[in-house]
Amino acid sequence: MPPRRHVTLALIAIVAFIAFSFLLSSGGQQRAAFDTSIVPSDSVLHGVATAPKLENATVKAELGNAAWKLLHTMMAKFPDQPTEEDSTSLKSFVYLFARLYPCGECARHFQLLLEKYPPQVRTRSSAATWACHVHNEVNTRLEKELFDCSKIGDFYDCGCGGDDDEKAVATTKPKVGSGSFTPLKLEKDGGLTRGG
Ligand SMILES: Cc1cc2nc3c(=O)[nH]c(=O)nc-3n(C[C@H](O)[C@H](O)[C@H](O)COP(=O)(O)OP(=O)(O)OC[C@H]3O[C@@H](n4cnc5c(N)ncnc54)[C@H](O)[C@@H]3O)c2cc1C
Ligand SMILES: *[C@@H]1O[C@H](CO)[C@@H](O)[C@H](O)[C@H]1NC(C)=O
Repeated sequence: MPPRRHVTLALIAIVAFIAFSFLLSSGGQQRAAFDTSIVPSDSVLHGVATAPKLENATVKAELGNAAWKLLHTMMAKFPDQPTEEDSTSLKSFVYLFARLYPCGECARHFQLLLEKYPPQVRTRSSAATWACHVHNEVNTRLEKELFDCSKIGDFYDCGCGGDDDEKAVATTKPKVGSGSFTPLKLEKDGGLTRGG
């Protein structure tokens, strides 16, 4: 092969390499952009809870107290008329909450509870009533007093600010606890899946 031919081939190889790298890197950017829009798969949502057993009873109770408060307050602030996406996000949150809850034995129990009572996310009222119901299921197992779920709207309404904003939207979106809250009657097993 004459030397000229070598040079030409080398040039072609270099150009091809640069073009290929460019394609790869722009493809990479597209993939990175796609990766930020997380759509949790079933295996992510329903995977085994991996936190270790929480031995310290004081810590376990404090954690539980704080976690229930977060969960019930979140339901109280969930939209009355959620979009499909609002509902999907709440449902995903509940399953991820169950998977990641940092008391391992609590998490695994809670995951079983979710199998029996899938989260209801169609309205604020159904979400709040569902959360009250599963909390009562945990209360029963721990032999604690049950909560009257017909009072849930008033109880978590809400003490977490934003009241002025709420007055502004009150005409279109009635608040929990202002008479708009209709407690649902939850059925066992199959009945609940309709709500989710
Ligand atoms: C998902 C999850 C699973 C858990 N699993 C376990 C477990 O397996 N073992 C264990 O030892 N602990 C578990 N815990 C912790 C346990 O539920 C309690 O949080 C903890 O024992 C402290 O109880 P508490 O008496 O402070 O009341 P909590 O049950 O923490 O409740 C806090 C407050 O919420 C109100 N409340 C009570 N019931 C309801 C209801 N149904 N709806 C709305 N509000 C209500 C009451 O005002 C109550 O004082 C779990 C907690 C969570 C969040
Ligand atoms: C449990 O945790 C609490 C709070 O952190 C701590 O004061 C206590 O000593 C712990 N108890 C045990 C038995 O480790």
